[in-house]
Amino acid sequence: MCFREDVETVEKTVLDLLLEAGGGYRSGEEMSGILGISRAAVWKQIQRLRTRGYGIDAATNLGYCLTELPDQLDGARILSLLGAHPWADRVHVLETVDSTNSLAKREALLGAPDGSVWIADEQTGGRGRQGREFLSPKGKGLYLSVLLRPRCIPAQVAHSTAMAAVAACDAIESVTGLRPGIKWTNDLILGEKKCTGILSELSAEWESNTLESLVIGIGINCAQQEFPGELRDKATSLRMETGTKPDRDLLAAALTRNLYVLSRELLTRREDWLRRYRADCITIGRQIRVRRGDVERTGVATGLDENGGLLVRYDDTGETGPVYSGEVSIRGTHGYI
Ligand code: BTN
Repeated sequence: MCFREDVETVEKTVLDLLLEAGGGYRSGEEMSGILGISRAAVWKQIQRLRTRGYGIDAATNLGYCLTELPDQLDGARILSLLGAHPWADRVHVLETVDSTNSLAKREALLGAPDGSVWIADEQTGGRGRQGREFLSPKGKGLYLSVLLRPRCIPAQVAHSTAMAAVAACDAIESVTGLRPGIKWTNDLILGEKKCTGILSELSAEWESNTLESLVIGIGINCAQQEFPGELRDKATSLRMETGTKPDRDLLAAALTRNLYVLSRELLTRREDWLRRYRADCITIGRQIRVRRGDVERTGVATGLDENGGLLVRYDDTGETGPVYSGEVSIRGTHGYI
């Protein structure tokens, strides 16, 4: 007798073996040997995976090869990849939502715990910084928000977005092998175009100046093959940079794990994380334009201050001062970055 759970375990393992093959073929005989099941049972699992959207090629004398990942996020697989992770019981995977950040803020008001994570396959109202839209088509990106509730005042988490950028770089590198650069403050860049955006929002009690919730939202362009309109020259996806669709489930699990470490180190290891941010930041050392309201100045980005503010040496006065996100818009003097 084969219980449902057994079927799923075997299916996951067949998938693991195909993923391990890294785009190469794996014979039915080898898999049946490793899993201790018949070749017919391997075939049954291959069929099951195909019905769930995995593209699997079968070739005589070679075996099976994974050619395509499903277009839908697989919540069960994300949870199984997380295993016994401390946040595993508060990770929510959704088909569609207005915005994972908006949902996280609503749930925060209802008392959702620290470390709650919302991951969506589509956002109908994805939001970016400065009130901009973040295009979030179904099956193409990873849209994830985490709710943190550190016990501190808001000023103590000013560097959290910088930490989130490093956490996202680590996750992308672990899945694709490519490490993005960071355009200050928080655009991740591959091939001189943006592949990821980050939006942090916090709420605090005004009278006691205590932080109530910090929501960090990360949107990663994964499977797009092109972008519409003015995004065409500015945006890219992991697929466009690597030539293959990334495994979004794996990316979701890696990002969740990295955000957990971020949450543990938020108030204790700021300097370490900022050192890593500096190493990835492609804005430092460049000639930039700083726009504050209607006034634009040029200068050189020379470094970061202890809160993640960008230090700029201005061309007009020669003086150096920090700029903070939200307050200014930064552009390279040549093109997007
Ligand atoms: C930006 O580039 O200006 C920031 C984009 C942030 C997008 C992410 S996707 C998950 C979360 N939900 C949102 O509505 N926004 C963030």
